[in-house]
Amino acid sequence: MAKLIFENNEEEIELEDGSPLAQSCEEAGVPFACTEGVCGTCVIEIVSGKENLSPPTQEEEDFLGEGTCDERLACQCKIKKGTVKIRF
Ligand code: FES
Repeated sequence: MAKLIFENNEEEIELEDGSPLAQSCEEAGVPFACTEGVCGTCVIEIVSGKENLSPPTQEEEDFLGEGTCDERLACQCKIKKGTVKIRF
């Protein structure tokens, strides 16, 4: 099982390895709009564990830029394993 931690309120959610973050983030209050990686409404900041997320999608690279930034689009990324801490 993987674990998603919201820094805002220290809430911890267990997820199957490979699960999308979208539903958990939406329930925690992250705003969503397009759900297709286009609008950028669902940007989250990865506090720790970014290596445990799926690689950025083309949509994320188009919106956020390639490389080292700690932001991801919650509608696009999946948790591979381990623990990821986010804030929004
Ligand atoms: S909801 Fe539009 S980019 Fe994620």
